[in-house]
Amino acid sequence: MKKIIFLILLALSCFSAYALSGGKEKAMIEKNVYGKLQDGTEIYVYTLKNDKGAEAKIINYGATVVSLTAPDRNGKYSDIVLGWENLQGYVNGSTYFGAIVGRYGNRIAKGKFTLDGKTYQLSINDGQNTLHGGKIGFDKRVWKSEEVKSKLGSAVKFTYVSPDGEEGFPGTLTLSVTYTLMNNNELKLEYKATTDKPTILNPTHHSYFNLSGDFKKPILDHILQINADEFTPVDKGLIPTGVFEKVEGTPMDFRKPTAIGARINDNFEQLKIAGGYDHNFVLRNYNGKVREVADVYEPTTGRHMEVFTDQPGIQFYSGNFLNGTQIGKDGIAYPHRAGFCLETQHYPDSPNEPKWPSVVLKPGQTFHSTTIYKFSAK
Ligand code: GLA
Repeated sequence: MKKIIFLILLALSCFSAYALSGGKEKAMIEKNVYGKLQDGTEIYVYTLKNDKGAEAKIINYGATVVSLTAPDRNGKYSDIVLGWENLQGYVNGSTYFGAIVGRYGNRIAKGKFTLDGKTYQLSINDGQNTLHGGKIGFDKRVWKSEEVKSKLGSAVKFTYVSPDGEEGFPGTLTLSVTYTLMNNNELKLEYKATTDKPTILNPTHHSYFNLSGDFKKPILDHILQINADEFTPVDKGLIPTGVFEKVEGTPMDFRKPTAIGARINDNFEQLKIAGGYDHNFVLRNYNGKVREVADVYEPTTGRHMEVFTDQPGIQFYSGNFLNGTQIGKDGIAYPHRAGFCLETQHYPDSPNEPKWPSVVLKPGQTFHSTTIYKFSAK
């Protein structure tokens, strides 16, 4: 008899816990050791889960998203970002998989710029130019990390203090990035920065998406739309020439949803120079407010991603440097164009283009920026 009463009580308590949680997954966050650097520094992985069952894993090395799940049209969640198998991959790799890139994301011509009459020389790491912050960018740094309380989902904040003179950049820059995995399947990134001397700043996020969840398959069938009437054409070193060019009548026109692969091999000089898409688009309605700027749809799974940002530009990179030699998660050799990036940012080489929106940050100012990747299915 006692046993029966016990079983009834047990069943009731289990049911009430289930009912209280609405029968759904609960947003939560977990912290575990991800690996160790050669000097013994422990790197942590934060697992963020939302009420729907989506999951993001983010490490405090490079504030890097190492995996992110999104639902297909049958409600099946799969990982949709490329990544390395372990910490060693992120330490050795040069693809910027999932990382926060800085201090200046994208390229600066000859690594040189002038600020308040003084010329600065940055470290050169891409031909004659500086790319993604120089030889050791923010993607290769250990960030401080803390869990953040948020009603919107589970959140983690990463902070990196970049010393004055690091990679040639002036001023001690403190940058924090808060990732929130929202209960409506948005991954929200909030950037905040201050400096003790005038400096330049252009942080971005470098996930390679493949919404099919099958990383053996190139992303050429993904249907992309970008809210841009113009792009910044580049020279052979992928430095903008300084003019905006109309996308109309060119393979750069993504104003209407178009497969990434539809025109990628066209005989169009800009595509030849970059070996595919690796260009910055001049986003419509730049006024400091967050607005929708791009949209991607994967027809076989129905996965759908929308990108929102307050930034003026977006670098659309079609994974042209992936070539089968990058062995990623599950030992998969990532083929050419196995992932694409949509990096929200200021236009490349802005420090040398005085007419373009400024990337200067001064003491006393606080840099704020928000980017959202929103996932759904149709
Ligand atoms: C950016 C650049 C590309 C390439 C990748 C990283 O998107 O624009 O040219 O360097 O990063 O491989």
